[in-house]
Amino acid sequence: MMPERLPTLQELLAFYVEAGVDCALEETPVNRLADEVVSPPQPTLTSERSLPERTLPPVPASARTVPAAAAAATPPDAAIMAAREAAGTAATLDELRALLDAFDGCALKFTASRLVFADGNPQARLMLVGEAPGRDEDIAGLPFVGRSGKLLDRMLAAIGLDRTSVYIANIIPWRPPGNRTPTPQETQICLPFIRRQIELVNPDVLVCLGNPSSQGILNTREGIMRTRGRWRDYDTGTRTIQAMPTFHPAYLLRSPAYKRLAWQDLRAIRKALAAATS
Ligand code: URA
Repeated sequence: MMPERLPTLQELLAFYVEAGVDCALEETPVNRLADEVVSPPQPTLTSERSLPERTLPPVPASARTVPAAAAAATPPDAAIMAAREAAGTAATLDELRALLDAFDGCALKFTASRLVFADGNPQARLMLVGEAPGRDEDIAGLPFVGRSGKLLDRMLAAIGLDRTSVYIANIIPWRPPGNRTPTPQETQICLPFIRRQIELVNPDVLVCLGNPSSQGILNTREGIMRTRGRWRDYDTGTRTIQAMPTFHPAYLLRSPAYKRLAWQDLRAIRKALAAATS
């Protein structure tokens, strides 16, 4: 059925935003309607011959060259192996960043604007790991700069810390389209890099912000409601460090009642840091 009227530009943009399309992927717009039309291959089934002639919609030329398709075509196990091999060769954080930037095994790289590697002090004794960059982080190229980042800054300030005294990264370094939750496969592909990042930073205390970070890094299926506030041992490969899962600041923005428990976790983190220096 034809709509009674065409949507206005504002309505169309609002629809895109609601559908998760909230940033441009390329510098210049692509007029897909103006693209050369290529006929799809015709079906070869013998029974098709007796069917009335049918044409599939044309595939625009620009839609046929999607770099993400190449990453998606890499079998996940091969991508995980490649990530392990690459991450293992990084001797410094700069090398790790360069290797990650050159890594094509995760399709998220091709829809994000840029790599979001880390922020803060690589010599810090506290390292925090979030889930994945959002829109603001994708623009800035730094983790936790949006609304949840502002809350994270206030949480750190409450225990006397700031970005000069902590190191912050995410398990996924590229923004998932529309801020969707990363798939388990994407997480597994990116995990070797964050594990190496933790090993190179070598903090005394590791904090996993939210479920995907806690479950991925601490290799548990338990949810954040059960794991938060409880110390775990994290083996970096060279040493065991204490790790604590706690709520993600974005969750605390949605559910402020849990800030009380987050404050308990922050106090435990402050105490652990003090004990590690004494
Ligand atoms: N949420 C995250 O998990 N990480 C960011 O960098 C921003 C928001």
